[in-house]
Amino acid sequence: MNEQDFILEPYNKAIENGSYTWQSPSNIALVKYWGKKESQIPENPSISFTLDACKTTTTLRFKKKIKGDIFSFDIFLDGKKQDDFKPKIETFFKRIEVYLPFLKDYHFIIETSNSFPHSSGIASSASGMSALALCLMSIERESTPEMTERYFNQKASFLARLGSGSACRSIEGDLVVWGNHKEIKGSSDLFGIKYPYKVHKNFKNYQDTILLVDKGEKQVSSTVGHNLMHNHPFAQERFKQANNNLSKLIDPLKAGDLKAFIEIVESEALSLHAMMMTSLPYFILMKPNTLEIINKIWNFRQQTASNVCFTLDAGANVHVLYPEQEAEQAMKFIQNELVAHCQNGYYICDRIGFGAKQTQ
Ligand code: DP6
Repeated sequence: MNEQDFILEPYNKAIENGSYTWQSPSNIALVKYWGKKESQIPENPSISFTLDACKTTTTLRFKKKIKGDIFSFDIFLDGKKQDDFKPKIETFFKRIEVYLPFLKDYHFIIETSNSFPHSSGIASSASGMSALALCLMSIERESTPEMTERYFNQKASFLARLGSGSACRSIEGDLVVWGNHKEIKGSSDLFGIKYPYKVHKNFKNYQDTILLVDKGEKQVSSTVGHNLMHNHPFAQERFKQANNNLSKLIDPLKAGDLKAFIEIVESEALSLHAMMMTSLPYFILMKPNTLEIINKIWNFRQQTASNVCFTLDAGANVHVLYPEQEAEQAMKFIQNELVAHCQNGYYICDRIGFGAKQTQ
């Protein structure tokens, strides 16, 4: 598939108005995307677990208007008009207009809500942009009834990527690869694909307890962070490392080797933050409590046979990952030792999910 395949013939069915609702989850990367080229093309491939509880619900209402030169839309978060989101949506619409030529034919009302705090470091851009892309694809599918499920999902992922890179990994589950990788069949820089190889039962229903260390707005946005990988002294090595880590993950995923999995996942998280600390300008998104939690996880693993491990996104929060069969022991540890390091004791129990769902 290339970009041209996502441009359809003019539709012959005109739709006056309507509305669609999609629920789309967040995802947590195991091998991280950090650094991109023009048009949201990643510098290296990434792989993520799709989440289940952390999600965005978006209703898109649309009504035909006289075609003009501007995108016409209003956006509401939890029922409140959110004009500060408009520039991001405007940029998204501009990028995808060539693939969805109907965008200027309608006035849109976008109503969105998240199951988690906005800008908590949980990727609301991933769930939000994927939910919006799916609603838009539902309109296109209505005009193109012969569209296959596969095309629908691929194009939804392709469009979501143009809104926010990691969003392209939120359409399906439970493990998704985005970015061309020589050992992963069907992988593409343009959209996410379901991980195509065998996954051991140890990784089924994997748990992710998200510890909210700092719920504040991020000091540095992901977009700024990605850009700092241009001319970064370690960029090329980092992109190589991510490719190698994805190669190295294939066997442990197949064999259920939790120790090997942990080593790759934790190393990826720390490498991501190492890139932030060594860019110019340099910055640190971890907080003292992030490090307290990491150290407690390491101590706990040393003292017990636990396979609890951590990963981090571009923020201070910690995703604590563990197999389902260790859930009871892990939750006790989290409650007794880790929750004290969360802001207002706030954490979210999540697990691997299977992707977005249309609800209306
Ligand atoms: C650290 O997808 O938020 O979470 O494409 O600029 O919207 P943009 O960036 P975004 O970056 C996410 C980076 C990350 C790692 C990952 O999810 O792979």
